[in-house]
Amino acid sequence: MAAAAAVGRLEMAALAWLALSLAVVTAVDRSNFKTCDQSSFCKRQRNVEAGSSPYRALLESLQLSQDSMKIQLINEANKVPLLLELYGLKGNMTRIRINELNPLKPRYEVPDVLVQDPPTTRLSVTGRDDNSVELSLGEGNHKLILTAKPFRMDLLEGRELVLSVNSRGLLVFEHLRQRKDSFSDKVSSTVVSIWDRIKNLFSREPPKEPASEGEGAAEASDAPSSAEQESTEKTEQGEEAPKGASETEEEPGSWEETFKTHTDSKPNGPTSVGLDFSFPGVENVYGIPEHADYLRLRTTEGGDPYRLYNLDVFQYELYNPMALYGSVPVLLAHNPQRTLGIFWLNAAETWVDVTSNTAGKTLFGKMLDYMQGGGETPQTDVRWMSESGIIDVFLLLGPSPNDIFQQYASLTGTQALPPLFALAYHQSRWNYNDEEDVSTVDNGFDEHDIPYDVIWLDIEHADGKRYFTWDPNKFPRPREMLQGLAAKRRKMVSIVDPHIKVDSAYRIHNEIRSRDFYVKTKDGSDYEGWCWPGSAGYPDFTNPEMRAWWSSMFGYDHYEGSMENLYTWNDMNEPSVFNGPEVTMHKDAVHQGGWEHRDIHNLYAFYVQMATAEGQVKRSGGLERPFVLTRGFFAGSQRYGAVWTGDNAAEWDHLKISIPMCLSLALVGISFCGADVGGFFKNPEPELLVRWYQAGAYQPFFRAHAHMDTTRREPWLFGEENKALIRDAVRQRYALLPFWYTLFYHSYRTGQPVMRPLWVEYPQDATTYAIDDQYLLGDALLVHPVTAQGARGVQVYLPGKGEVWYDVHTHQKLHAPQTHYLAVTMSSIPVYQRGGSIVARKERVRRSSDCMYNDPYTLYVALGPQGTAQGELFVDDGHTFSFETKGQYLHRRFSFSGNTLTASSADPKGSFETPAWIERVVILGAGKPAAVFLKQKDVAESRLDFTHEAETSVLTIRKPAVNIGADWSISLR
Ligand code: NOJ
Repeated sequence: MAAAAAVGRLEMAALAWLALSLAVVTAVDRSNFKTCDQSSFCKRQRNVEAGSSPYRALLESLQLSQDSMKIQLINEANKVPLLLELYGLKGNMTRIRINELNPLKPRYEVPDVLVQDPPTTRLSVTGRDDNSVELSLGEGNHKLILTAKPFRMDLLEGRELVLSVNSRGLLVFEHLRQRKDSFSDKVSSTVVSIWDRIKNLFSREPPKEPASEGEGAAEASDAPSSAEQESTEKTEQGEEAPKGASETEEEPGSWEETFKTHTDSKPNGPTSVGLDFSFPGVENVYGIPEHADYLRLRTTEGGDPYRLYNLDVFQYELYNPMALYGSVPVLLAHNPQRTLGIFWLNAAETWVDVTSNTAGKTLFGKMLDYMQGGGETPQTDVRWMSESGIIDVFLLLGPSPNDIFQQYASLTGTQALPPLFALAYHQSRWNYNDEEDVSTVDNGFDEHDIPYDVIWLDIEHADGKRYFTWDPNKFPRPREMLQGLAAKRRKMVSIVDPHIKVDSAYRIHNEIRSRDFYVKTKDGSDYEGWCWPGSAGYPDFTNPEMRAWWSSMFGYDHYEGSMENLYTWNDMNEPSVFNGPEVTMHKDAVHQGGWEHRDIHNLYAFYVQMATAEGQVKRSGGLERPFVLTRGFFAGSQRYGAVWTGDNAAEWDHLKISIPMCLSLALVGISFCGADVGGFFKNPEPELLVRWYQAGAYQPFFRAHAHMDTTRREPWLFGEENKALIRDAVRQRYALLPFWYTLFYHSYRTGQPVMRPLWVEYPQDATTYAIDDQYLLGDALLVHPVTAQGARGVQVYLPGKGEVWYDVHTHQKLHAPQTHYLAVTMSSIPVYQRGGSIVARKERVRRSSDCMYNDPYTLYVALGPQGTAQGELFVDDGHTFSFETKGQYLHRRFSFSGNTLTASSADPKGSFETPAWIERVVILGAGKPAAVFLKQKDVAESRLDFTHEAETSVLTIRKPAVNIGADWSISLR
């Protein structure tokens, strides 16, 4: 009976979700998601006030070894000792780890995200007094002053203070403890939860904690507790330490926490950690995706902190700090002198407060301060708060933005080089209904002469949402379908979600169950939640054996009907649990090793994508590069594929925000980002759809996708004019594929983002700091998509003192810096090439990127103010690891100076044969030469044909007909 009732409830929850998802809803139901106040640890931490740190560093405990400094910190209030370890890392980074000296049991430390144990440098003590010690950090000119009481650390470059740690005294470390009086606490939290429910019954507001709870909260969890102090013993250093620590007067929510109908049993009690960082002289901070917000982070004073907790947020709202599907706990701080980074390596629910002493001041106010000499130095403070784990934080000391990218990449790896097709255009919807539908859409692209590479199958393709299977009625012959696509040199992506239908007739489920690979409930049974297939189990992706098994499921013998041209989409991997707290997994669910879901939550999606990508590599015997799209992500996810921004809507603001959302990801290593073109929910009007294609064509991951409830929107369904506009946008993407591919190669090698905020390339230009309606691709193209309805023009900021930019469509030359007004029509995609750059294109129109493989190149040489330009091109087979394992690639360099364009190798380690040649060289900003000559080694000089347009100063040199791998020079005489 009870079981049946439970199933009934589950069904209702799922039906409610589904009903919601089908209805035209306009905004997120905020009450489904916690505010900081409703997340007990966030509330406790936020109640800790600045300026009264109870921590003292025990200078006498300091130990210096080859590569690290260790020192104990004592909480003077409860006498619990912590151990702080400090490492100077190669490449100008510092790592700080803080853990309990004697935890009751180990606390979670995030594995698998760092690509290696970061190499250390030597630390040395360079000064000392009664209350402080000064360390030199090995590399650069950095010093760290550690003050004992109150504990803080200040990092200096030369004599300049660049960063302080705990200067506001917000270090919080809730030590593991035994529950003092489980009975009375239980009673009190039960009272609170009953109270919550009663209140809930009478109010439509999200449940709030009773007022009394907030009172006295200033003495939050790390406030002195007399009983605790009584129950102490001596540490090695003679300090008092807790004796199997027990606590008194815990706040409600410490040992059990209820949100809506869900109670988190919190067997370990309060375990949160937190720390503050201050950046003097800094007004601009960025990063910590994923949020649907501006690129430049805003102060969180008076509102909620930015939340990092991977969640499936239905109909997410824009311009707020609510959590979304993925989390990268990396923040960048920037001013004209330097860029710094903080990487907070913690996978638990995390909140980040940003405060600034200049927030809210107008530019005029700031100028007035400056003129009167009375203004304070601007400063931005950030405060990190995580629910469990340890403090493990990397300070990336820059000083340039590129240094930060390199530093972060040395820790978590770089963007995987995607197979070339993945950079082309993807056609998706929920769902392409059957094989015939797939074939009709596929043919549609040929009929309408629009290139495309990949068609996607959403959840309805599988047999009853049993992933790795095909619906026998709709997709009875998957291999034939895939072969049909392969014949046109196209691919398919099928969805494989990490919730597995509980069904004893489903092989995948049976195997997972028999191998005991499912996540467990707190009571040890298999965790079950509600998702697309109904009741579902969640494989424990934190278990390496489970991941290896999962990977093997992508083998052609296991995934029946699959073929080489079938790739994967991992959705719902936050994980999404329709009937779980905040639509995700219960925090007290248990993973391998006994870790709570609480500890690993933000890592789950990372592991799903990792295991899937490894499966694709394995099925090819290690030869082929994978392509996996994921919705959830964490630091390091860049190593496994692409991400997209989830369920957006067909609204202008959603188009607009796709730019800062992808830019924020790019800043923290994840370059392969895109948004559903057209918007997922609702039906775009044709103007919006066209504008979205135009914008998407210039974003890294370019896929149209739509909710099942929307009307069909293949590009030819909107009339000839709109079709032509969409076709043109897609063709622009294809022409630039060599450029995109080279950018991705560069990102893979160096960690530099593909899509860049302007300030990354122009770090001293304060005008760029808040710009997020335009961006750079590499350092060569500046894109300002039209994102406003009925736009007649856009204001484009062209940066770079003394630089020039060329409109790529008209070739008009513009001097920078300036804000240029460009009048636009429906066909305009404002894109500018920087004078001084060379961009390679392939301009023949084909069906797919693979069909263009041997096509000739056109080089666009945009002359800089000195009449020079440089550019690069990367070429390989486009899909295997041979570029890595066998050096089979070409990395070419083109350089123009002294009226001569030269092609040479940028990297002699690579070699590769390709028939592709150069059919044209277009030089922007060139005068008319009398003659043009081509010179190749051991070949007589030959004259080349050319045309020159005096009005635009465009010189077009015809048919040099040199192989793309050859060395040559072209001189204008
Ligand atoms: C949610 C995803 O965000 C969306 O893109 C997909 O179509 C649906 N799940 C169905 O799989």
